[in-house]
Amino acid sequence: MTDQSSQWQSAHLAQTYLEGVRGAIPLAQQQIEILLTIVANWVPGVRRVVDLGCGDGILGRAIQRQHPGAHAWFVDFSAPMLEAARAKHIEPARATFIQADFAQDGWQERLALPGPVDLVVSGFAIHHLTDERKRALYAQIYGLLGQGGVFLNLEHVASPTPAVEALFEAHFVDSLYAYHRGNGSARSREELAREYYARQDKEENILAPVEAQCDWLHEIGYRDVACFFKAFELALFGGRRAA
Ligand SMILES: C[S@@+](CC[C@H](N)C(=O)[O-])C[C@H]1O[C@@H](n2cnc3c(N)ncnc32)[C@H](O)[C@@H]1O
Repeated sequence: MTDQSSQWQSAHLAQTYLEGVRGAIPLAQQQIEILLTIVANWVPGVRRVVDLGCGDGILGRAIQRQHPGAHAWFVDFSAPMLEAARAKHIEPARATFIQADFAQDGWQERLALPGPVDLVVSGFAIHHLTDERKRALYAQIYGLLGQGGVFLNLEHVASPTPAVEALFEAHFVDSLYAYHRGNGSARSREELAREYYARQDKEENILAPVEAQCDWLHEIGYRDVACFFKAFELALFGGRRAA
């Protein structure tokens, strides 16, 4: 991939997200804890994990910390994000970094996986695709999973009404403000709110309700489909392939 078709491929947005937003996501730690609980119970012997739209690799690394025997494929179409993921990974032998666009058919071949995987995780990345493409991607992910393999998507999902969306946005700005204050920043809530509502990447969001996305997983053949966590527009959902 050489053309820059998404804001996410810019170094500026990568840095803004990693330094100013990721740590401010409400209940971020709890989301990862729930994800790790599911992994520990459903794929305790995970050997192969794919982190799709990995950013700096936060989810894949969390899984590898809990499962030292796992190899992770970190996949992103943004060179600066992959660079951040590489820089944060202390065991290069247990990681493969792949630049690929999962909106394009054939992305799976670029991973050159040695066989089926036990786990695919994704964090706040797939909502940039059209609903048709999300569904197709969920089917492609299903195709990568071995028996009993698990897919977990930590996602930004649609609110049912604009009023509920406004609640989420107010909550997110509160969380951004608390995060920046905690880091010693003197930036006002108003300034952070202005920046948040005018953020560059918002126009790339195509949010879908979590209920519809769980239905798609079900129709594709995933078992035990559920929304494991939800707070406003933040959801962790997924399912697994029959054992
Ligand atoms: C909001 S960041 C989330 C990063 C990380 N997963 C996390 O939980 O913090 C979204 C990431 O998805 C990547 N991304 C978005 N669309 C993509 C696509 N079509 N193919 C590959 N990566 C994509 C972006 O480059 C970015 O790194």
